[in-house]
Amino acid sequence: MQKEVNYTLSGLGPSLDQFLQEEQQQFPHLSKALLPILSAIAAAGKVINDVVRRLDLVGIVGSRGVHNASGDEQQHLDMMAHHRFVHKLAATQEVCATISEEAEDILAFPHGCGDYVVALDPLDGSPNIGVNASIGTIFSICQRRSSQSVPVQPEDVLQPGSRQLAAGYILYGTSTMFVYTACHGVHGFTYEPSKGQFFLVHRAMQMPQSGHTYAINDGNFDTFPSHVQRYIRQCRSRGYAARYTGALVADFHRHLIQGGIYLYPSTRANTAGKLRLMLECNALALIAEQAGGAASSGQQAILTIQPQSIHQRVPMYIGSASMVQDLLAGG
Ligand code: F6P
Ligand code: MN
Repeated sequence: MQKEVNYTLSGLGPSLDQFLQEEQQQFPHLSKALLPILSAIAAAGKVINDVVRRLDLVGIVGSRGVHNASGDEQQHLDMMAHHRFVHKLAATQEVCATISEEAEDILAFPHGCGDYVVALDPLDGSPNIGVNASIGTIFSICQRRSSQSVPVQPEDVLQPGSRQLAAGYILYGTSTMFVYTACHGVHGFTYEPSKGQFFLVHRAMQMPQSGHTYAINDGNFDTFPSHVQRYIRQCRSRGYAARYTGALVADFHRHLIQGGIYLYPSTRANTAGKLRLMLECNALALIAEQAGGAASSGQQAILTIQPQSIHQRVPMYIGSASMVQDLLAGG
């Protein structure tokens, strides 16, 4: 007879909502709006998790046959996630606008209703959807700069990453995790479906200063800048492991836990790099820096770049501080 595997859920850490409340008490200067905004993002993430866990059964796989503002092929789940996050954020009444990889322009909510702007990549790594591999959601929160009495202005949205109040991601991997920072350390939570809640599993995460893993699309090697080619050769000669999932969130998470570097340089096909500054890079750069890691475009720290447009792309090198440093030193 087969032995049953037993596990218990005793000794669970605080739930995400409890943790957010505690953080608010510990750091009273934190905006009170962060709690409802982060809770809304987590709530939408739970719905996406439920869908992702049974994708093929509920028939939400496949392409919509159109491309998004960045030219990527849009999948049904991309749009579903986009609508779910935007809807939950609007309901908080704390958010005046969102920007999303799946919307060409700023989505402004009826004005006068909120002081915060949220940038979203609702479904990161969407080519992984049809093959049951990890995907994610990326989010970034800033306070608007103009007064609530006027409609949302471009400068409310086009803010450098250094002005983020909070940022994070949800990783739909072997388990579903919510990782965020409100600029007081990085904390990670695992979703427990039987309780419908995220519970703390990593408090004050620290990215190892170095690692033995690098993530890059090696198929583009011949078109990388020469200093990146040199750095990759160095990684190979040191016997580092190449690990590339095709979902930035999943590769970044590996490096947050184990150390490593993710690189998306300029290539022949994407001369300004592929990743979106406001929708992907800023959030992960804030997490990296808060955890002791680093993120650079090769020219400057990602967080110092003044965005010119909401879908702006940028090369990005992100991960363990000493590996990013080695890359910047010329490989
Ligand atoms: O969102 C952009 C993205 O899908 C990342 O998640 C991923 O790391 C990268 O693009 C993959 O791009 P490529 O297929 O060009 O390697
Ligand atoms: Mn993405």
